[in-house]
Amino acid sequence: MKLTVFNGSPRGKGSSTRVLLEHFLHGFMTAGGNTYELVYLNRVREGDKFVNLFQEAEHVLLAFPLYTDCMPAIVKAFIESLESLCGREGNPDIGFMVQGGFPEAIHSRYVEKYLEKLASRLGCRYVGTIIKGGCEGIRARPAKRTRKLFESFYQLGQIYGETGLFDGELVHTLAQPERLPGLLAMLFKLLVKTRFFMSYWDNMLKENDAYEKRFDKPYAR
Ligand SMILES: Cc1cc2nc3c(=O)[nH]c(=O)nc-3n(C[C@H](O)[C@H](O)[C@H](O)COP(=O)(O)O)c2cc1C
Repeated sequence: MKLTVFNGSPRGKGSSTRVLLEHFLHGFMTAGGNTYELVYLNRVREGDKFVNLFQEAEHVLLAFPLYTDCMPAIVKAFIESLESLCGREGNPDIGFMVQGGFPEAIHSRYVEKYLEKLASRLGCRYVGTIIKGGCEGIRARPAKRTRKLFESFYQLGQIYGETGLFDGELVHTLAQPERLPGLLAMLFKLLVKTRFFMSYWDNMLKENDAYEKRFDKPYAR
């Protein structure tokens, strides 16, 4: 198989998306003859190259972090740049990987539906969507806390490299918890409101000069 991979994280090489893809691709490469090309959508000036790559691809994997229950703007821009390829004969198979910060998979179910529809509009065979929550900061976690997660992505890649399919059982297991159980969900809601929890995100906003704009609603009428 020849796989074309698009990493849609604005963090590019410093992203959790990259870390998960790395394990997936190690597994993918265990099947003899497999090759891949990986590009970063945050290199926005290379937009034309991305469209060409998609056009020439046999199998595509589009991986990105969940942003406000959907996708980063660079991913949306990439999808929109494919408009002229809608329904074209010979479009590649397409699979997706969506990883988010909150632990529950339910946050990604709407974008999953969107992605399935996108595949159909493009006329691509839809391979499926791998969903994994709780991924913020996986690069900084000790190895023993990520071993199982990375092994699962490796296995997913391995099976995909052999069959061109995402293993249904692994995809299901990775997506757990679909929802946090009642008490835990309540505790989480409280935790999210604390200054301690918010300071992580607030610091990022401040670093990017966006703290003062955090309640802006640019699309509100
Ligand atoms: C602007 C922004 C919006 C986000 N929105 C969500 C969200 O709606 N749900 C969620 O679970 N995580 C959300 N996250 C967290 C990211 O999905 C999570 O941190 C992810 O692991 C980042 O991956 P990356 O390092 O590959 O970019 C958001 C992060 C940012 C910066």
